[in-house]
Formats: sequence, C-alpha cells, structure tokens
Amino acid sequence: MYQPGGTTRRRFMSGLATAYGISKLSPFGLAVQGVRQTREVPGGVRMDPQAAYDRMVKLSSNENPYGPSEAVMKAMTGAWKYASRYGYPDGGITEAIAAHHKVTPDHVLLGAGSAEVLKAADDAFLPGHRKVVGVEPTFEVVYRFATNSKAQAVTVPLREDHTVDMKGIIRVIRLNAADVGLVYICNPNNPTGNVVHRDEMKLLLDSVPEDIPVLIDEAYHHYVDNPDYESSMKYVLEGRKLIVTRTFSKIAALAGMRLGYGIAPREVIDQMRPVTYSMGSINAIVKYGGVAALQDTSYEAKIKQLNKQVRERTMTQLRTMGYEIIPSDTNFFMVNVRRDVTPVREEFRNRGILVGRKFPPMDTWLRVTVGSQEDMRRFVAAFKEILPT
Ligand SMILES: Cc1ncc(COP(=O)(O)O)c(C=O)c1O
Repeated sequence: MYQPGGTTRRRFMSGLATAYGISKLSPFGLAVQGVRQTREVPGGVRMDPQAAYDRMVKLSSNENPYGPSEAVMKAMTGAWKYASRYGYPDGGITEAIAAHHKVTPDHVLLGAGSAEVLKAADDAFLPGHRKVVGVEPTFEVVYRFATNSKAQAVTVPLREDHTVDMKGIIRVIRLNAADVGLVYICNPNNPTGNVVHRDEMKLLLDSVPEDIPVLIDEAYHHYVDNPDYESSMKYVLEGRKLIVTRTFSKIAALAGMRLGYGIAPREVIDQMRPVTYSMGSINAIVKYGGVAALQDTSYEAKIKQLNKQVRERTMTQLRTMGYEIIPSDTNFFMVNVRRDVTPVREEFRNRGILVGRKFPPMDTWLRVTVGSQEDMRRFVAAFKEILPT
C-alpha cells in the first residue's frame, strides 16, 4: 500500500520539480518563500501556511488520508510529458469508464470533479427558475448551484432516524410537478453517511414522471457494505432519465487532482455536454491516474477495509462514552455532541484538528471524516478534552 510521505510521493514531487526545471534551491523557490506570510498554529507557533496546513489533522472534507495508490502515482508521473500540450492523448479515460460500467462512451460525461457534472445537471435542467427537489441536509452544492442561477430548491427534512423520506419527496414532486426540473438524491447521503434503501430508490424512480431527470450522487459508493444498498447505474441501462455521478476524489484519493463523471442515457448527456467548459477543464495528468485507479481494484478493497476498521473502532470508542452516532457506510460519520457544533468545531481547530461544519437543522451533530488510525487517536483524545465523558 502507498505510504504517505514515502518514497513514491517523494519520487512524484521530484518528478514534478524536474518537469518544471526547478530545484529546491532555485532562486524562484526562494523568492516565493520570501513573500509568504506566516500563520499561527495551535501552541502559538507561527509558521508558513503550507507547513501549518500539513500539520493539521484533516477530518473536515471526507478526503482519503492514505493518498493515491502506487499504480496511480506511476501513471500520473508518466503523463507529465503532456503538461505543456492542449491536444494531448487522454489515456483512454472515457472508454475506461464506459467499459467499467458496461455502457458506450456516449453515456459518459467527465468533469473536473463530480461537482462539475452536478453543476452541468443544474445548468441543463433548471432553466427559467425551475425547481430542484431533494432532502435536507444533504450535499447542498447542488442547491447552491441552483440558487446561483435563480432556480429554487425545495427540500424535505430527513426522517427522525436520519433516513431519506422518500414518500415525502414523491409528494413534493407531485405537488410541484409542473415546475420540477431535477430531483437530487445523494446515496449514501452526505453528511449523514447512511444509505437509501434499494426499494425506496426503486419507488422514487417508479413514481417520478418519466420526463423529470433524477440526479443520483454516488460519491461514496465504493465504501458501502450494506445489503440494503444498490447502485442506481442499472436504471441508466434501462434508459431511465437518470444521471449517476461518481468521483475519483474519495476512494481513489485524487481530490486535489479533480476528476469525476456522470453516467446517463445519451440524450441526457447530449443536453449536459454543451453547458460544460468546452476548452476542457480536466488536466492531462489525472486522466491517466483515473484509468489506473479503475484498474487497481486491490487498492480500492484495501482502503475500504482499512476505512471500515478505523471507523468502527472510533465509533465504538465514542459510543462507549455515551454518544449517539448514525450508522455509516462511508468514510465519515455523524456524532451527536449534544451542543451547538460551531464552538465545538472551534475547540477542535484550536487543537490542530479540522472537523465538519454545522449542517442545519442537525445543529448538534458533528460530521467527522475517518482519517488514519493516528488521526483518529488524536481526534478521540481531543474529543475527551472538549466534551464530557
Ligand atoms: C456527496 C458528494 N458529492 C460530490 C462531491 C464533490 O466531489 P468532487 O467534485 O471532488 O468529485 C462531494 C465532495 O465532498 C460529495 O461529498
């Protein structure tokens, strides 16, 4: 398995420096360092912002703490030679994704992160103040993109057990049928970490009028270990007006490299493609990384297993202290800290630990990303200091 800070990352960084012809001692590097401001970190020490960032335990954005696999790093390093080109070969990324899902390439829309595909769905299907329907809280970027373009989000609260109220969503869609441009479901849901039952997803797709597109965000699909869950990809194959999004940011650990995609029937992709950035928003390097990540199934399995092990151990520790936790099928979980999350988050930050923000109306629930074993040891130690046990 790839070790953070190990030889592979060093090799990659030295490849990067070589590619740009910059040595560590270059006047260019020194000049950049010279103008940098320092930032105070916990303990009152002032340091360079990058060093400060590196020191923080990052449990706020559901990133993968282990980094990309050796095979992915090797593939990306090999693609640096295309950094200066526009019309570079793309490693066959679209074909690789299509083959992975047993569809033809015209069913695939790439994005610089799946967020770009989510935005394309909003832009394509919410013109003229149409409405997007979904739950709250969820990954609200889809609602934010929508309101930016003057569309409106109509949201349904989660049920008391924090699951998606599918019958409530269907009711709202029916009530607003003439205005609904898009339905958004995040499965598993972010920030709660739980899955939508396969029967409820089927109920939704059987109930929504055929002409209303449904957007299903499966960013955390690869972490799920739950017999009640199933991917909605099969409905695309059935020709349903559906877009399923996936990302390389989570289990493949490429969040900073930006690559995601949507799978949908060809006519749906044809509606979304014109609203994406036609010059190409995706860099040459990550396309090669994406192809390698799809092939590296053993690394994916290792990350899934490691994440589950660390997640369950941490959740048991917090439950033993008397805290309620929503069962999770992802690389994050929510714990009820029984007080407003915002000052608690600040307390963690003061101890060098970044945790999730508040997700109204779940104001006392803290979202915590599952980091490495050492990250979680530090998190639990800080938790014991901040919150009563
Ligand atoms: C549910 C969900 N969807 C989409 C994204 C966007 O990810 P990216 O644009 O990196 O693919 C995230 C990021 O955290 C997410 O949590």
